[in-house]
Parts: sequence; structure tokens; C-alpha cells
Amino acid sequence: MKILIIGGGGREHALAWRLGQSSRVDRVFVAPGNAGTAVDAENVDIAMHDFPRLIRFAKENQIGLTVVGPEAPLAAGIVDAFANENLRIFGPTRGAAQLEASKIFCKNLLRQADVPTADYQVFRDAESASRFIMDRFPSETEEVPVVVKADGLAAGKGVMGCSRRADALAAIRRVATDREFGEAGAQMVIEERLDGEEVSVMAITDGQTIMTLPPAQDHKPAFDGDQGPNTGGMGAYSPTPLVQDATLALIEERILVPTVHIMKRSRHAFRGVLYAGIIMTHQGPKVLEFNVRFGDPECQPLLMRLQSDLLDCLEATIDGKLHEIPPAQWDPRPAISVVMASAGYPGDYERGKPIRGLEDAAALPDVKVFHSGTAISNGQVVSNGGRVLTVTALGNSISAAKLQAYRAVKCIRWDGAWCRKDISDKALRHL
Ligand code: AMP
Ligand code: GLY
Repeated sequence: MKILIIGGGGREHALAWRLGQSSRVDRVFVAPGNAGTAVDAENVDIAMHDFPRLIRFAKENQIGLTVVGPEAPLAAGIVDAFANENLRIFGPTRGAAQLEASKIFCKNLLRQADVPTADYQVFRDAESASRFIMDRFPSETEEVPVVVKADGLAAGKGVMGCSRRADALAAIRRVATDREFGEAGAQMVIEERLDGEEVSVMAITDGQTIMTLPPAQDHKPAFDGDQGPNTGGMGAYSPTPLVQDATLALIEERILVPTVHIMKRSRHAFRGVLYAGIIMTHQGPKVLEFNVRFGDPECQPLLMRLQSDLLDCLEATIDGKLHEIPPAQWDPRPAISVVMASAGYPGDYERGKPIRGLEDAAALPDVKVFHSGTAISNGQVVSNGGRVLTVTALGNSISAAKLQAYRAVKCIRWDGAWCRKDISDKALRHL
């Protein structure tokens, strides 16, 4: 079978690499891909939003399965567009992708299904939102534990945690008055700020059966010790000792099952990867958000450990036959992924820096270097994004996996390269 993967980051490189190992897969194409997918698969120079050209490519090349990496094409209806042409594609429909594309859709659904999540209110303009804050928190100096969120997709930037009234009012202004996040800010959610450690629990579901994947932890803040601005994720590891089997069962029962059921009842049956961003509060796990695709970088350590044929899982999902396949097999060893980033990220950064040492890193045992933002320029691999590489390793323990991943990181150099040095250290608190 020939496979087409949509996207060009570390997650898509990992998907291409893993699917390429299936005995039933002949060729893997990635649109648009990066310098890593150019080696492990074949790149196709078509943009993710160009559905007509992607559909034409899928038809002309007899693509048997298309797999969508990022949320933007899902929210724009790529699955509906392919399905209309009788092309097989893995991912939720546009209606089901609202779970990520609209925070209001998500929160209302969670409330309806009685899934634990932060209390919230919805606002359509700056005046009513500001009035709510002023009424609720009359003193300028008191603690204001709220989070202001633009409703729509804002590349992870539309979420602002607050601790003072002035922060909340400024956040409201950014969303509703300055329209910093464009249309995504046409509506907003103000919710209570929760305290606790975060965990990413992903499940593959065909709308009926749920295959929960081992829990992972991301590292969103840019700097060591969870300091600095938020990023797309500076590293991840799986499994995490923070979520043992009993907690995972509770998350399935209280969060995943009711969500999948209510999606079905509301005629948006969810097929694809349901990613619950969960915070472990004193009252138990609560949902911070849902994503409708694999997490990046969480996907990389997960796929490093997956021993079953990923193609079987994806096809069973599309066919509504997930209940027929055996449970996925995982390498018992933990995996960690360290993101190497460009100088300046998550702010402005330069591209085009030649990257050296990739072969030395690749030669280390139990290591795989997934490319995130890379390109080929004059025959050389160069940086082409903020997050550039996701260096991934397996080990007999989390510390052994960490050691091996950073050994690989040390092999790789480019002008301005940096990474967090403490990926997976959070796990040590729970061991
Ligand atoms: P979201 O896109 O809604 O997951 O928000 C992005 C990040 O903001 C989360 O990963 C959390 O770190 C933080 N966050 C979002 N909502 C809350 C909340 N209610 N309480 C505390 N932190 C939050
Ligand atoms: N790593 C967080 C995300 O993929 O949204």
C-alpha cells in the first residue's frame, strides 16, 4: 500500500518512519515533509491547505491511506474533502475537529457529559468579559486565578494564565479589542485556573471502541524548571509514572469514554486520535483541552515504543473495527524526546543554519533523530523552523533513556542550537 502523510514536523516524520516499517506498506509520501522525511520517505511539494492538489495526488498515485498530522487541515475539513472523493483518510471530520478548533464547543460538550474540567464562562465582547472580572474580583490587589482563552485555533498562543485583575483585563483586551488572534478571538472562555501537573493521554478511537495509548508528559515552557514562555513543547517522555494503571483507568472512565459517547450522540462521531490534555488536581484528573491529533512531541516517544503495526490500528479505526484488533504491543522500555530549537525560539529566529553531526547521533544505539523544522539547501540539512529536531532515545529506565537522548544531542551542532536539559526530570518526583 502507498501512504500519504500530511504535515512536515517531528510528529509526521515519526509517523512516516513507523508506517514505513509495516510489511504492507510499499511507499510513504509526506506533503510537504522536511529533510528527515526526505530520507525515511518521499516528500511531495504540496501545501497542507491545498486540498484539491492533495486529492489529485492521492488519486494519481493510488494512495491507499492518507494520515493527517496537524490540526489546521482537520479543522478545515480535509477528512470530509477526501471522504467525498472516496479516498481513505485517518482523522476526525471537520465537525468532530471542533473539539480542538473551538474551546467553547469543547467546554459545552464536557459540561453536558459531566466530564471534570475547570469552571468557565463564555463571552462575546470585551465589555461583558471585563465586567465579569470587575464584579467577581472587586479588589485590584487580590489573587485572580483565571485563564483567558481565545475560542479558536491560535497555534497555542491564545491561552493566557492570570494572577491579578490587571492581567485578566489585559488578556481580555488582547483577545477581544486588539484582536491579536484574529477570528479565533471572536469569542472567548474565561475559566478557573487549576493547579497540578499536566499529562497527555492519547487514545485512538473509531467512535465506539477506545484504544488508550500509554500516558506521556510534555514540557511546554521554554526553559529548564518549567520557566519562560510557552512553546509547542520542548520535549516529552512516555510512559510517565505520574499516571499509573489505576489513574489511567479512571481517566478512561471519567474522561475518554463519556467524551467519545457524547460526540457520537451529537452526530460528530470521533474517528482518529483523541488527545486529552489533563491536569492532575487535588480533586483528581481534569481536562484542560482536547486535541484531535497526535501531540508533537508526545507522538515521537510513543511511536518509538510501538511494536504493533501502526497501519492495522489506523485502518481498523477508519473501518470502525477497532474492537477486532488485539491490544497494541509496546516496548516496555521508556522513551524520551528532546527538542533542539533555534536561537530565539519561541520568539523570532533565523533559518538556514547548516546542521552537523546527524550521522554520529544516528549511529548511537536506541536513538532516532526525528526532524521537525529542517530543509535541504545545496545538498545540506539546514534549520528551517523554531523547533528543529526531536532527538529520541529508548533506555532501560527513564534516566537511561535520558542519558542516551542527551548523548545524541551532544553529537549535533548548528549555530544557535539549544535545548532544555531537564526533559523527563519531572518523572523522578514520582518514582
Ligand atoms: P490549552 O491550549 O487550553 O491546553 O492551554 C495551554 C496551556 O495553558 C495548558 O497546557 C496549561 O499549561 C495552561 N492552562 C490552560 N487552561 C488552564 C487552567 N484552567 N488552569 C491552569 N492552566 C491552564
Ligand atoms: N505537545 C502539545 C501539542 O501537541 O499540542
